[in-house]
This record gives sequence, C-alpha cells and structure tokens, in this order.
Amino acid sequence: MAKLINVSNRLPVTIGKTIRKSSGGLVTAMEGLTDRLELSWVGWPGAAAANAAQEQELRQTLNSQYRYDPVFLSEADIEGFYQGFSNQSLWPLLHYMATKMAYETEWWDCYQKVNQKFADQVVATAESGDTVWVHDYQLMLVPGMLRHANPDLRIGFFLHTPFPSYELFRCHPDRNNLLYGLLGADHIGFHTYGYLRHFRSTVLRCLGIDSEIDRIPYNGRQVKIGVHPIGIDAEKFTNEVTSPTCQEYLAKYREAYAGKRVVIGVERLDYTKGILHRLNAVEQYLAAEDTPNNVIFLFIAVPSRGAVKEYQVLREQVEGMVGRINGQHATVENIPIHFIHGTISFPELCALYKLAEVCMVTPLIDGMNLVAKEYVACQENDDGVLILSEFAGAANELFSAIIVNPYSPHEIADSIRQALSMPFAERSERTRVLRERVCKYDAGYWAGSFLNALEKHVETEEEPVGETLKPSILQAAVDVAERIAVVLDYDGTLREFVSDPSDAGPTRAITDLLDQLSGKPNTDVFIVSGRQEADLQRWLGHYPFTLVCEHGYRSRPAGAEKWAVLTEDADLSWRESVLEVFRYFEGQTPGSSIEQKRSSMVWHYRRSDPEFGQWKAHQMMGELYETVSNLPVEIHHGKKIIEVSSVVVTKGNALRHYCGNGDYDLVICAGDDQTDESMFQAEIDNLFSIKVGAGDTAARYRIDTPNTFRNLVGTVFADREIGS
Ligand code: UDP
Ligand code: G6P
Repeated sequence: MAKLINVSNRLPVTIGKTIRKSSGGLVTAMEGLTDRLELSWVGWPGAAAANAAQEQELRQTLNSQYRYDPVFLSEADIEGFYQGFSNQSLWPLLHYMATKMAYETEWWDCYQKVNQKFADQVVATAESGDTVWVHDYQLMLVPGMLRHANPDLRIGFFLHTPFPSYELFRCHPDRNNLLYGLLGADHIGFHTYGYLRHFRSTVLRCLGIDSEIDRIPYNGRQVKIGVHPIGIDAEKFTNEVTSPTCQEYLAKYREAYAGKRVVIGVERLDYTKGILHRLNAVEQYLAAEDTPNNVIFLFIAVPSRGAVKEYQVLREQVEGMVGRINGQHATVENIPIHFIHGTISFPELCALYKLAEVCMVTPLIDGMNLVAKEYVACQENDDGVLILSEFAGAANELFSAIIVNPYSPHEIADSIRQALSMPFAERSERTRVLRERVCKYDAGYWAGSFLNALEKHVETEEEPVGETLKPSILQAAVDVAERIAVVLDYDGTLREFVSDPSDAGPTRAITDLLDQLSGKPNTDVFIVSGRQEADLQRWLGHYPFTLVCEHGYRSRPAGAEKWAVLTEDADLSWRESVLEVFRYFEGQTPGSSIEQKRSSMVWHYRRSDPEFGQWKAHQMMGELYETVSNLPVEIHHGKKIIEVSSVVVTKGNALRHYCGNGDYDLVICAGDDQTDESMFQAEIDNLFSIKVGAGDTAARYRIDTPNTFRNLVGTVFADREIGS
C-alpha cells in the first residue's frame, strides 16, 4: 500500500508520565484514510528534548505504538523556531496584525534549520511515489526542501490560518523564500477562496509569477491550488453529547446554573480571537439591559503560547477587564462573566456546548474556527444559537448563524439580544441547516477532498502535453548530422526573464555555452530575437554567429560587419495610428512604456501593477483590433508586452531565409514565445523544434526552463569536435 506521511508541527500526543494520544479532528480525518494509504506522522512531541537516550526510547515507543516519527527540538529551537519565527513573526502577519509582528534574523535561521529537520525526517522514511502532506505556517519551507531532496514525492501543503492580502504579506522580510518554499508542493490548500485569491496575488506581485484560478506555473511544474474548508469529527461530538459521562456533567451544570441562561465562548487565549472586543460588547449589553440577573457569560480561554509576551499581556488585559465588568455589574444573585483560564475535558466541553443557549465566536480573524462547528454539532435538538464573526473562515459556510462584525460593540450587543430572544422555530430552523452542513462536510470529507485533488493533480500532469525532450534524442540527431544550424531565440530561451529587459545581458552560463558552440565544426549558430539591433550587437556582436533582430526585420550575417534589412518589402505606414493608441495607454498605465523599433512597436507593462497592467493590456488589445484591422500588421500579446509588427516580418521568414535551402541536415530551433511559433511552423527539412516552458506549441519537443535547455545543449555538443 502507498504511504501517506503526515507532517505537522505537533504530533498528536501529550507526553507526560505516560503517552496520551490526542484525538482532534485532524487525527480522525487522517485515520479515516488508512483504508487507501498506510499512515505515518512526523512532528514535534511537544516538549524540549531531554538526553539522547530518552529521545531514542521515546522515538522507539512512538514509532512502534503509533507509527509516529518525532522531531526533537532543543530549547533554542523552541525559542527561535516556535515562539519566535512561527508565533511572533508569521502568526500575527498571517492574521493581519503587522504591528504585532516581531522579527529577528536568528529566528529566521532557526526556522530554516528546523524546517530542514522536519524535511530530513520525512526523507529518511519516504520513498519515491509516497504522499507527504505538510500542515500549516510553522512548516512553510518544508515542501520546497522535500522537492529538492526527492522530486518524485507527491507533496501537499495545507494552510490552517488565513493567507492575508499582499499588502500585509509583503511586509515580511523573508516573504519570497516563504513563497518559494510553498511552491515546492504539488497542491496547496486553503480554507477559503479569499485566502487562495490573496495567495495568487502575492505570488504574482512578489515573485512575478502569473497564475490561473487553480494553478501556478513554477519551475516547469504546475502547482495546483484549491479551497478545502476543514470540518470536524462531527460524529464524535454527536455521540459524546449522549454519553453517560457527558450527561453527568450536564446534570451537574444544569443544577449549578439553574434559572440562568448560559452564553458560552471557547477559544485559545489569543489576540486574534477578539476577546477584548467581545468583553467590551458584553459590557455594553449589560449596561443597556440594566444588568440582567439570569444571563451568564461563560468564557473559557485555553492557555496558549504563554512564553510569548503578547499572550501574557493579553491575559492581564482580559483578566483586568473581566474583573472590572464583574465589579460593576455583579449582583448578589448573579456574576455575569465566568472566566476560566484553563483546559477542559472533552465530555465537559460537549456538556457545556449543549448547556449553552448561545455560543459567541467573534474572532477578529480566524482561518476557520472549529469551535463554531463543534457547538453546532452538539445541538442535538437544534436549539442553540451561534453568533459568528464575519471574519472567521467558518462564516463562508455557516450562513444561517447570526453574523457579526467583531469590531462593532453595538452589533455584538444587539446579536446577544437577538439570540436570547429568538423564537424557538427560528432557532431550530437556523441550527438545523448549520448542523446538516457540519455533519455532512466533516473532517473525513475534508481530508479526502484534499488528497483526491493532490492525486488527481499528479495524474493529470503526468500526461505529457508535448513530447518532453530527452537528451538522448537530441544527442542521436547531433551525432549523425554533418552540418548543423542552431537557431536560438534569446529572452526566455537562452536567458531567463528579468523585470528590466535592459538587465537581461548574457550570464556566465550563457557565455560559457556560446563560447563552446562558437568553436564547433560544421555548426552555424543563429540568434533570432525580437530585440533591437543595439542589444544584440552589444551582448553578442563578438560571436561568429548570424544575428537577427526585430523578429526578422534586419540581420547581421556571421562574419559581416554591418546590419542590413532582411525583409525589404515591409509596409510601415501603420506606425502613426498605432503610436496614437500606444501613447494613450502609456499615459493611462503608470509604469508602462513604449519601445519603437524600426519595423515594430512595443508597449511594455512589466513594471506596471501586474493586475492593473493586465487589465489595461486587454483593453488595448480590443482598441488595436479596431484601429488596425485593415492594416498589414500583426498584433502579438506576449509576456507583459503588446507588440505590433509588419505582417511580413516574422522569425519564420528569417529561418527560411537562412536555413531553407537544404544546406543543413539538422536545424535545431528553440524558442519560448508566440513569435517563435512561426519558426516551428516553417516547413523546413530536418527541423528539430523545441519549445522552452509551458503553453501550447507547434514545436515537436518541449523542455521546461532556459537552464535545462542550456545544460542540454552544452552536454549534447560537448563531444562534437573538429573532424566529427
Ligand atoms: N479545545 C481544546 N481544549 C479545551 C477547549 C477546546 O483543545 O480545553 C479545542 C476545541 O475543541 C477546538 C480547538 O481547541 O477543537 C480550537 O480550534 P479552533 O479552530 O476554534 O481555533 P485555533 O485554536 O485552531 O485557533
Ligand atoms: C492554530 C494553528 C495550529 C496550532 C494551534 C495551537 O490552530 O493553526 O497549527 O497547532 O493553533 O497552537 P500551538 O502553538 O499550541 O501549537
């Protein structure tokens, strides 16, 4: 059976005198998959490492009893990786709280080191073809590290927090490395479409990678992205509310709270949960209602991340505020807020969910919020009312809750009144709908849907879109050829794109390759580019190659000094009217510019806001089709450019001019762009066409990146020596 290795910061165990396995939704969801996959788990057992011998013993126990592989963290790791980078840097930023974000370079070093520890632990047991599912913000670099170590793993990543807008994420000093880390995955899952949308926009703006709604092209792969709202183990809750232990608790609480109406709140004590805002609203409610004697607010705050300053400060603030409100509104018969800073057992939790008439879930922001779903699941008589923040991921699904803005004290206070006075029929109808959804789309559904998407992805991508060029195929063709033409596009084929086209001069890797090619016997090299003469002359003029600029308009044959027109009959009378359109859009689109070539004109928008630039480009395309429909031009919408050129000037014509007379018994022709397609379609004998990168093509073969292409050509021509 294929393996599924689940990787999360924490292993689902509590290590005390004995080892206790935790039983959250994630565990149940994962265990539900064991009929199709053999499950193991990599994670931190939750305490600082003791000595090596104890570590070894614990490792053995965890592995033999549960198939858990622990990653031990030192005190320094816990401080730098967990408390520092994960919970003081990433957590606040992912939750839109940039002002709470702290940063230390040592934390980043530690985060990388610990992520590598997790990846190493996975690699130690994983085999090619296994599935690895990495969870959450503590491990954002792990997918990239796994991909690097073993490209044949199937790698999924799920983010359990929100993904914030680009404006927030861009604040992080390591933003690009974090994104590259995630893009190592085959499939990345989010709770909501909003988070997915922010992620795409951030990848576009930080890394310059354009994407589609369900996929991001990266490094010759397609990284799939999807929305998978997590669910709870609903059955566990519905079973528990009827269990004898839970019933006992319920009877006890009913007695303790006899005559009272209980409003509950349950969360980790975290500043994202909106506890202070909620207390403020409760205070308003109590003041406006003249301190009702029969309503109790039972707020359970589970201790969390207590070593982090922000959490200590929050605890003081909450306790101070609870004390003040109770001081003001307590009566002999009633203390309105019962605040518990502690954990409660599962049957106790279910009993309290069942007891409470209202549950307040009012985070300022929350990836999903499981408490909302758990409360709903426990309403076996459909009689509880859920008040839910519109900024919790759960609000995208639980529509019939009372949805509130957690920043608005009067809206929350109103919602308490509305909930407590809601007629039974309405309560019941609203909760029934919620409960159906929570029970149907549970944790098992979530895990299954994520894994299906991950598996489907790899299957789809394995079907080749064009034939991937194997080195041996090109080698065989080169080995038997007498005279070879090597016809190369420049940008995107030999050279990777950069944000400023004038910075795209040849790198060392390119000059090494060209130096090698220029010494080869019976091998003529042609650089056929859309660039202007000056760039090609400056960067490549000293090579004994034929240079062709402006998509075939002018050329400098090998050995010649001067450039000359290659396409004599180009009609250029359209320039003025096109220039007018270009100028209009240049003025409207900050960051865009016009480049005037002899035979064509280009509007560049690579430096504009990516989304705005794209939108303007679409508008311009429409405008150009109107303006030039009867003129002898071609309009080409390329990578962040729109180019209008004479219809007779094409790279294909240039290729025919130089290589169409049968002089060569092998014409290797490579390009990445739409303008290179005319070469691939040129009917020339012995054409060996190669598309570099993704996208439809008429080329016979395809290769993923300029880097792979350069390495391939370098290898294939290495042995072609004089006399061969
Ligand atoms: N919970 C807990 N101990 C308690 C009370 C609650 O572990 O004493 C659980 C609760 O049942 C829920 C989880 O903590 O499953 C909180 O998850 P949620 O998604 O609401 O918030 P998060 O803590 O992930 O931010
Ligand atoms: C959130 C995070 C989890 C984390 C949990 C508890 O739900 O998304 O990754 O495990 O909080 O936080 P802790 O810091 O105690 O692991």
